[in-house]
Amino acid sequence: MYARAIAATTTALLGTATLLTPTSDARVGDVRARPAVVAHRGASAYAPENTLPAVDTAARLGFSWVENDVQRTKDGELVVIHDDNLKRTTNAEEVFPGRAPWKVKDFTAAEIARLDAGSWFGPAYAGTRVPTLKQYLRRLDLNHEKLLLELKNPELYPGIEQQTLKLLGNEGWLGGRYSGRLIVQSFDAGSLRTVHDLKPALTTGFLGTPAKAELPGYARFADLVNPSHRKLTKGYVTAAHALTGPHGRHLRVFTWTVNDADTARSVARYDVDGIISNKPDLVRAALNGR
Ligand code: G3P
Ligand code: CA
Repeated sequence: MYARAIAATTTALLGTATLLTPTSDARVGDVRARPAVVAHRGASAYAPENTLPAVDTAARLGFSWVENDVQRTKDGELVVIHDDNLKRTTNAEEVFPGRAPWKVKDFTAAEIARLDAGSWFGPAYAGTRVPTLKQYLRRLDLNHEKLLLELKNPELYPGIEQQTLKLLGNEGWLGGRYSGRLIVQSFDAGSLRTVHDLKPALTTGFLGTPAKAELPGYARFADLVNPSHRKLTKGYVTAAHALTGPHGRHLRVFTWTVNDADTARSVARYDVDGIISNKPDLVRAALNGR
């Protein structure tokens, strides 16, 4: 659907780029098709999670929706990384010995920009960087992608809701042509409520599995409730769908992290609205063959 070539000249600034080629069928990865298939942390089975190559790979595979995790550096830069520390997905221990426990919030953006966030995954990705959220959004723009943005550990970063919304607004993600291309989600209900109060028009998703009786309360500020597939039942999806979210649509359900065909087919039978996967191509194949 989207034919796009990422200019090699952006590689130095943004990390390893991938040549993107047209794909024959992106419909399952699109929000218009149900369920939408979301590339978790980018296509993270095939490229280092939460990096630019991971979102390039998702686009190349034909998936427009990607998920990420946003946290904040010591000097206030929003960066895309899952863990609250740098150890698992960068070479921080090697570059900064003596800085244990290598928390994201204890490093400046310039320090984090020095780290290799790709070699842990494979030598082909050596030199890949931890992207800032701004760099990441701009790459999604180039790729015509859509974003399921997770505010990760917001309790560690006071004001991250306002800051993230400001950046999204500055980058043009809060209106007009971005309508339908952004969902903000969090495990932290208070944080999500703050996002909803600050930008009521924005689509939001609560990560977790509230009791069915509690779902009406969540439907006041969340358009989606996003449970682990391990806790999901058909009855749960039906209960969510019976409710109306803050924008007048039924409360939608995106489930995670589905990385095998049997589970993909099961949750699709539950009538979920979205499936979040490290292997979106495997999910697409399973759904096409069901
Ligand atoms: O999008 C759902 C999923 O990302 C939540 O779990 O730990 O992978 O951020 P986690
Ligand atoms: Ca996440």
